[in-house]
Amino acid sequence: MESDMRLLVTRWQGVIAHYRDFLPVSEKTPIITLHEGNTPLIRSRWIERMLDERMEVYLKFEGTNPTGSFKDRGMTVAVSKALERGLTIGICASTGNTSASAAAYCGVAGMKCAIVVPAGKIAAGKLSQALAHGAIICAVHGSFDDALKIVRELTKEMPVALLNSVNPERIEGQKTCAFEICDAIGDAPDFHILPVGNAGNITSHWKGYREYYEAKRISQLPVMVGVQAEGASPLVKGEPIANPETIATAIRIGNPASWHSAIRARDESNGTIIAVSDEAIVDAYRILARREGLFVEPASAASVAGLMKLAQEGYFEGKFEELRKERNIDRDRPIVVCILTGHGLKDPQTALQTFQLPEPLPPTVNAVKRAIEQVI
Ligand code: F0G
Repeated sequence: MESDMRLLVTRWQGVIAHYRDFLPVSEKTPIITLHEGNTPLIRSRWIERMLDERMEVYLKFEGTNPTGSFKDRGMTVAVSKALERGLTIGICASTGNTSASAAAYCGVAGMKCAIVVPAGKIAAGKLSQALAHGAIICAVHGSFDDALKIVRELTKEMPVALLNSVNPERIEGQKTCAFEICDAIGDAPDFHILPVGNAGNITSHWKGYREYYEAKRISQLPVMVGVQAEGASPLVKGEPIANPETIATAIRIGNPASWHSAIRARDESNGTIIAVSDEAIVDAYRILARREGLFVEPASAASVAGLMKLAQEGYFEGKFEELRKERNIDRDRPIVVCILTGHGLKDPQTALQTFQLPEPLPPTVNAVKRAIEQVI
């Protein structure tokens, strides 16, 4: 019994071990892993009900990765490869999650990590992670886009590993999220919805689906749906945005590095990239926390906000009818997966502001009783 338990605990060894055949590693690659991946794909009950049971909705909760976001999938590959090349410093620009992940994985690799972030725009949880993991923190008066420009210049001058998703090894690792979804469902979903910032993740997920399709592990490709925040929606507007603004700081990006591959994912999958308001993001953030038990960060809630918006517009019915005809699907409801990219604990300030902490009470039974009775 005891040894069985041990086997259960240790069986999952991270995304490189599990999907090695699809990843650019060899016996020479020193694998740096925190056993990332294998995140839960959770059937949504409340959201399905809100949508009149017109679709099956699954939530892929990437917040359970070791540093609390999907970035760990790409970071295990990028840092392992950097170490294989003998590099000793990793560097990245970040809205927070990439820096937290890079700092953790570089620490394990015995590498230094430098992060360049927009000053005052990083959620508290993410910054504390980078600090705790010992990153060299360079906060600049500027945007994420400015930070990325600096980092790209620096990598030309210094022997450092670029750990942003412009590094194709990050994309390779992140595509494992699509693999896991297919392995769990038994095929690709009909629709795959995710938030889009720098556009690395939509690029990687689409790549993952395509590779699984070519390997005949799945019989269809999903329609890709990217969701941006209205104030930071360059891909929707079709031009870079100089001063992006949104409550979802993780996707507060005006000029995504993977612009073209995001558009390719959209077009090749016959999908769409839409914008949602900050109010819609907060509504989805609340529903996820209150009803699905999933505390995600605001950027992650954008995918569910996108689902709600498109459902209201009747997007899925029309599109699914087309798919059914094209692909001879006999299901009468589409299968939709929403990616929840990061954990809510990353951004406690937004939670405290959104949900409002009540004033402390006198330490008496009556005071507490009154407080409870007021809301029931
Ligand atoms: N969701 C979260 C929680 C993120 O942190 C990010 C990106 C995205 C979605 C968008 O993914 O950039 O691949 O389109 N965060 C990056 C960072 C930019 O620096 O942590 P993307």
